[in-house]
Amino acid sequence: MSIHREVKAVWRQASSVSGDYRLRQLEFLLGERKTETIYREYGCIFKIDLDKAYFSPRLSYERLRIAELIQTGEVVLNMFAGVGCYSIFIAKHSEPLKVYSIDINPVAIHLLHENIRLNRVADKIVPIKGDAKKVIETELQNIADRVLMPLPERAYSYLDSALLALKPTGGWAHYYAFQHAKKTEDPVEKVEEKVSEKLHSLGVNFKLDSGRIVRPIGPRWYQVVLDINVKG
Ligand SMILES: C[S@@+](CC[C@H](N)C(=O)[O-])C[C@H]1O[C@@H](n2cnc3c(N)ncnc32)[C@H](O)[C@@H]1O
Repeated sequence: MSIHREVKAVWRQASSVSGDYRLRQLEFLLGERKTETIYREYGCIFKIDLDKAYFSPRLSYERLRIAELIQTGEVVLNMFAGVGCYSIFIAKHSEPLKVYSIDINPVAIHLLHENIRLNRVADKIVPIKGDAKKVIETELQNIADRVLMPLPERAYSYLDSALLALKPTGGWAHYYAFQHAKKTEDPVEKVEEKVSEKLHSLGVNFKLDSGRIVRPIGPRWYQVVLDINVKG
C-alpha cells in the first residue's frame, strides 16, 4: 500500500471457490474493510464485490475470444452470468441482438443491473434472476444462436438445458469444464470424449469445432472450453 497509493484494502484468498454462488472466503489484511471495488477491462467497467459475487480477472482473454466469435444480430444466452463480465464485454465489443443473462445469486444480479447502467448496454442485456435450468424451461426455449456455460464445476448437468435454449436451426454452445489429466493425457480430449458420449446419447447432431485449455487451475488440473456446433 505504501508503493501503490491507490490500493485501499488488502484481502487474502483464504479458500477455493465453493457453493452455489461460487464464492471464496477472504481474510482481511490491511486498509478499509470493504470488498466492493471497480474493475476495468478492455473499455468495460465492472462493479464487483469479492465477498458476495464471483469474479475472476484471469478470464479476460477468454471473454475477448468469445466476443470475437459473435456475429451481428445473434441472440446470446449466458446461463451463468455473474456480475456480467462476459455479457457486458459481448454487448460492448460485438453486435448481438440480445444477451439474456441468468444468475441464481441475487447480489450478482444486483451488480449486473449496476454494470448494465455503468456501461450503457440496457438495450442489449436482459438480466434474469433464477436457476438457469428452470428459467430456460419456462421462458427461454428455442431462442438462442449461442449459449455460454461458464460454470465449469456443473456445466455437464446443464448440457440438456443449453440444447433446449438453442434455436431449432442449431447454433453454438461454449462448454466449460474442470478436468484432471495425467502427464500422458490431453485434458481437452478427455472433456471431448465425455461430452461427445452425452450428446450422442441425447441424439444430437453436432461437431466439436475447437477446444482449448483456458488456464491451469492446480497440479494437473485444467479449465477447458469446448466450442460445440449443434446442427439443426
Ligand atoms: C464461475 S461463476 C461465473 C460468473 C461469470 N460468468 C464470470 O465469468 O464472472 C458461475 C456463476 O453461476 C451462478 N450459478 C450457479 N448455479 C447456477 C444456476 N443453477 N443457475 C444460474 N446461475 C447459477 C453463480 O452464482 C455464479 O455467479
